[in-house]
Amino acid sequence: MQIGPHRFTGRFFLAPLAGVSDRPFRLLCRELGAAFAYTEMVSAHGLIHGNGQTEAYLDRDPSEVPFAVQIFAAEPEALARGARAAVDRGADIVDINMACPVKKVCGTGAGASLARDPQAVEAAVRAVCQAAGVPVTVKIRSGWDAGSVNCVEVARAAEAGGASAVALHGRTRAQGYSGSADWGRIAEVKQAVGIPVLGSGDVWTAADALRMARETGCDFVLVARGACGNPWIFRELQAAEQGRPPPPPPTRDEWAALVMRHVRLQLEHAARRRPGEPAAETERAAVRALRSHLLWYTRGRRGGVHFRREAASLCTAGDVEAALERHFPSEGPGFEVDPSAPPPSAEDAS
Ligand SMILES: Cc1cc2nc3c(=O)[nH]c(=O)nc-3n(C[C@H](O)[C@H](O)[C@H](O)COP(=O)(O)O)c2cc1C
Repeated sequence: MQIGPHRFTGRFFLAPLAGVSDRPFRLLCRELGAAFAYTEMVSAHGLIHGNGQTEAYLDRDPSEVPFAVQIFAAEPEALARGARAAVDRGADIVDINMACPVKKVCGTGAGASLARDPQAVEAAVRAVCQAAGVPVTVKIRSGWDAGSVNCVEVARAAEAGGASAVALHGRTRAQGYSGSADWGRIAEVKQAVGIPVLGSGDVWTAADALRMARETGCDFVLVARGACGNPWIFRELQAAEQGRPPPPPPTRDEWAALVMRHVRLQLEHAARRRPGEPAAETERAAVRALRSHLLWYTRGRRGGVHFRREAASLCTAGDVEAALERHFPSEGPGFEVDPSAPPPSAEDAS
């Protein structure tokens, strides 16, 4: 199980997730068993010119080796220079985002828009490989819309350009994050290329991830919304990979301890980005940045509705701790997640 020279102890990764897969959440997922985690997407132009937000994206725990940075831009030259800047700041793997469906990104010709033309894909990958000098991976969708599914061609183009792996989200750009992912496309891409394939789409539970690996033959599985509020999914997957029985869901105390650890990691992350700012302001910003995670952690649990009503007014780590105590006082019936609760939505992400 490897990408370029990098070997992984498992095949279940945290997907790149804008507003979600930052240093704190990557660390928690990896501690719970994720074999690897991508950064959220970072503008190649931002990397070239450098700014505070870019520094935050590149903030990594020293244990994150290899470190993979996902970049986006429309022009091969910008991608190449952005990739080089990422490598100069520690990236061991560069992933090119050719999957983002957002208008603001696609409108510039980046994200999913880039993958409309396989020749452009090959040229972009080649330019990035030459500039980066580290393994380059590419994340694509099945196509632009149902009438223009081109993932096999695009994956082949990425391979021809020198990509070390290709990740496929089995939805079209037109689908956004709704409808269902077509895992058949992942199987087709796996058959079509010789490089490792990472599968993505509709991995809500550990059982889904295992089934995706089995049914599509993909080499790695990206867990995305299924990890939001449930990083313990990686503990289950690690147990399954190692042939151990499934671990029990987290107890109330384990759950609350992880939520509070996430809050503390977020405070440290914010403090590194905002040196010199009054501590109270940094804390407020960190808790605000955590809001979607807090909603996901409490989704479908008894007390969650009351917690959600209060979530916008939480400003400090102490506020979060007190609200957890108030709304989720102890173990007992109702603490476990209600399986009928709606899944995490992309709109919840900050
Ligand atoms: C909130 C959110 C942010 C995302 N950000 C990125 C991103 O920065 N880069 C990327 O390649 N994909 C991004 N994705 C797509 C996911 O990596 C994944 O491919 C997609 O959610 C499908 O998996 P799922 O149906 O299991 O959630 C994002 C998805 C969501 C929901």
